Amino acid sequence: MDKLLITGGRPLAGEVRISGAKNAALPIMCAALLTDQPLALDNVPRLMDVRTMAKLLGLMGVEVGPQADGRLQLQASQIKDPVAGYEMVKTMRASVLVLGPLLARCGRAKVSLPGGCAIGARPVDQHVKGLQAMGAVITVEHGYMNATANRLKGARIVMDLVTVTGTENLLLAAALAEGTTVLENAAREPEVVDLANCLKAMGARIEGAGTDTIRIEGVGSLAGARHRVMPDRIETGTFLSAVVAAGGKVRLVNTAADTLGATLEKLREAGAKIAIAGGAIEVEMAGRPQSVSLTTAPYPGFATDMQAQFMALDCVASGTGQITETIFENRFMHAQELQRLGADISIQDNTAVVKGVERLLGANVMATDLRASASLVVAGLVAQGETLIDRIYHLDRGYEALEHKLSGLGAKIARVR
Ligand code: EPU
Repeated sequence: MDKLLITGGRPLAGEVRISGAKNAALPIMCAALLTDQPLALDNVPRLMDVRTMAKLLGLMGVEVGPQADGRLQLQASQIKDPVAGYEMVKTMRASVLVLGPLLARCGRAKVSLPGGCAIGARPVDQHVKGLQAMGAVITVEHGYMNATANRLKGARIVMDLVTVTGTENLLLAAALAEGTTVLENAAREPEVVDLANCLKAMGARIEGAGTDTIRIEGVGSLAGARHRVMPDRIETGTFLSAVVAAGGKVRLVNTAADTLGATLEKLREAGAKIAIAGGAIEVEMAGRPQSVSLTTAPYPGFATDMQAQFMALDCVASGTGQITETIFENRFMHAQELQRLGADISIQDNTAVVKGVERLLGANVMATDLRASASLVVAGLVAQGETLIDRIYHLDRGYEALEHKLSGLGAKIARVR
């Protein structure tokens, strides 16, 4: 099994190109289920999760073209089997995003329940409740959601909590429903806006994406379209935090600073100089960062997907930072791995108190989930000596060519067996 070997202590310098966003590409790929015409996508990242989604759609009969230079074409001329089996859903929770579009297009769908995952229980009750409000009949048997509907009907849906994929699933379904759907307490994440933009290019009528009230006027059919997937704001934030932790000067290109929410301000608070020019961000960091305190929140609050990387930053900062996780109940698994590198972290309920230490020392550590792995990479880049990160398949799910990109910035990092 592949591991990453990092020899830390070198500042980062140069330019890095940010990939398309995983969490935008996955729901957008599902939009292909809503039309029999081709959906041509650009800036699609080369990631395991994208391959998994392509495979899942392929199993349903969607024609998936080759992925080259960020391009990927999907065409669901017909859907022969509106099913997402356990084997697929268990490897990637985002598979549940096929439920809404399958129901809207085929009037039926069978999707495995995702079950728990490492970072928390993550139920899908809001997805189900919303689809039921639109007239779907959904029963759960043998671990599967069996859903049927004649034609989904627009409804006013007030979501109990802010859910990103829940909002996306309902947006996808409502695009082809009869009448108007209003989603209240909707997620405002930029990925939701990107999905809405793709659907609009396909002929959907959507207003308010990016606010907490989204209004969708259902249409009878959608057409094919060409859409460019937004840049990955979490990959962007991960590189920025790596530079702030390890020091140096890096230019990030093909990114979008206006999607980063609270991340940039927190990095400035840590002492980074950040300049924005069009689709590029320049970050410069000299000396040791200052600790920052943060609480995760739905967008535009501080992203839970950046929490682990900031914990790594706080580990080497001057001062004490307090990190509170409010989105997922078990998203501090990186803390004990960071401690193996010499970090001083104490956890009380959903808050971690991180006392910065003068230095981390390389060690063998284990990746437990995608963003936890990213935090170990950030810490490994700063730690003295060698850090060997095991189970990096988590990283491959969500970071395109991470070790190549970091090597290009002068890091000593290699994939080993
Ligand atoms: N929740 C419910 N019921 C639901 C849906 C969600 O109780 O029906 C709860 C969850 O258990 C969680 C909270 O609501 O406590 C928020 O979860 P959300 O549904 O927003 O998360 P998600 O849509 O499953 C997406 C990203 C995650 C990211 C979260 C939060 C995708 C494919 N995944 O997950 O990304 O952490 O939003 O921003 O978009 C990652 O990329 O590493 C990742 C985990």
